[in-house]
Amino acid sequence: MTKALSIVGSSRSNGEREKDDFYPTPSYAVDKLLKREVFNGNIWECACGEGDISEVFLKNGFEVRSSDLIDRNYGTVENFFEADYVADNIVTNPPFKYALEFVNEAKKKSNGKIAMFLKTVFLESEKRKPMFEDKEFPLKTVYQFSKRVTLYKDGVKMKNSGMIAYAWYVWEKGYCGKPTIEWI
Ligand SMILES: C[S@@+](CC[C@H](N)C(=O)[O-])C[C@H]1O[C@@H](n2cnc3c(N)ncnc32)[C@H](O)[C@@H]1O
Repeated sequence: MTKALSIVGSSRSNGEREKDDFYPTPSYAVDKLLKREVFNGNIWECACGEGDISEVFLKNGFEVRSSDLIDRNYGTVENFFEADYVADNIVTNPPFKYALEFVNEAKKKSNGKIAMFLKTVFLESEKRKPMFEDKEFPLKTVYQFSKRVTLYKDGVKMKNSGMIAYAWYVWEKGYCGKPTIEWI
């Protein structure tokens, strides 16, 4: 079993784990990223869920490749860690528990930018420090949401939603300079 499969399957006995890992990103949060960040080339939403992020990029005229480990009736069923594909840009909201693994993998599979919707606390931890210190595919900008983003699924507010601070983190291959922070 690969790392990614063991990751997602680790606490799974009846499929509950996948459900728990699924938090759709509100479209307005994606609009706010697109207003501020320029993406050249195609987009890979590599943990696409039901396509909430993909749809915003499609509406804005991007070519989008969508995939997810779980069949949610959207995109290709594919384990990101096993996918043999390289995109111009990778944009997603990964399962937070494995966000570091997703960022490190995305650095191997994107030639341009990586944008991830993540908790603000992703900035901390010793484990993530080497990834943030990487100079080849460095962090460029953190777009911090000033107003907390509330997550819904099927119109129902998700547990603990609205209590967590989120930001868009953008990495750019070959970017020179210090990362900047902006407030949405
Ligand atoms: C927090 S949800 C976000 C869904 C979507 N990106 C969005 O923003 O609406 C995380 C998604 O990651 C998917 N996922 C988990 N492990 C994965 C893996 N190894 N490869 C691809 N997708 C994975 C889950 O099935 C889930 O749909």
